[in-house]
Amino acid sequence: MKLQPLSPLFGTRIEDVDLSQDLDNDTFAAIEKAYNARSVILFRNQKITDAQHVRFSRRLGELEIHVLREFVKPVHPELYVLSNIVENGKPIGIKDAGNYWHTDLSYTKVPSRGSIMYSIEVPHKDGVPLGDTQFASTAAAYNALSETMKQKLAGLKAVHRFWDRYLRERKAAGSDVVISDERRAQTPDVVQPVIRTHPFTGQKCIYVNEGFTVGIVDMPEDESRDLLKELYAHCTRPEFTYRHKWQVGDVVMWDNCATLHRATVDFALPQRRLMQRTTLKGTEVF
Ligand code: SIN
Repeated sequence: MKLQPLSPLFGTRIEDVDLSQDLDNDTFAAIEKAYNARSVILFRNQKITDAQHVRFSRRLGELEIHVLREFVKPVHPELYVLSNIVENGKPIGIKDAGNYWHTDLSYTKVPSRGSIMYSIEVPHKDGVPLGDTQFASTAAAYNALSETMKQKLAGLKAVHRFWDRYLRERKAAGSDVVISDERRAQTPDVVQPVIRTHPFTGQKCIYVNEGFTVGIVDMPEDESRDLLKELYAHCTRPEFTYRHKWQVGDVVMWDNCATLHRATVDFALPQRRLMQRTTLKGTEVF
């Protein structure tokens, strides 16, 4: 197994591993170690079935079924489909999931440990792949904070909310979707620490994101807005980011504690994009 850095501070490409196979324990342990240490792992040229995608993901623990049930696969609901493809008048996946910096499911009490995305169709223009995903290391960003800022952030908590962002995105896309009170109640606001500790490495990470964080608890609104803005800008400084250019057959796994990510929606039909993702159950944030 060969490991190559994707960027100086985080991200690793692992070669010579075939994820369609049931991996032996040593190989799997080496992958998990790299995953915890480097936060984003890339495997290229994979050809996996839905069942193999789920089987590999399950080696890392229990899987989540996404709250947007309309975009999960019927036979394997652990697979959440991200796509702009429409079949029989119906979208087969979520079209523009996450074209803003976020970390998956931070709006749930126990957010996911990470996600594992498999690329099936990649849009292109003039031979150049479109629909890149950008990643930002919130661990590297934490390490680079001044001691004064680390002290200021220690102990602060922030509110995370799902539906505001979802409805804003749908509205911008011209949809007038309405979410029932019952559905809203299934995903209530949650409060998370602004600095969280990685459950496997002990590394501290900045845990706010422009996708779902709506404010800092017990802080005046304008101060909270300014501080969040400053943290978002800090986390996404070029030296803490890696931009992934997809190829068909890529499997990318990312860590939702130590990274943020953002999709790039720079393509439209007939340029087709089809990805599917599993979401790993996490542990309570501390
Ligand atoms: C996501 O936010 O899970 C999807 C990222 C992407 O589609 O590039």
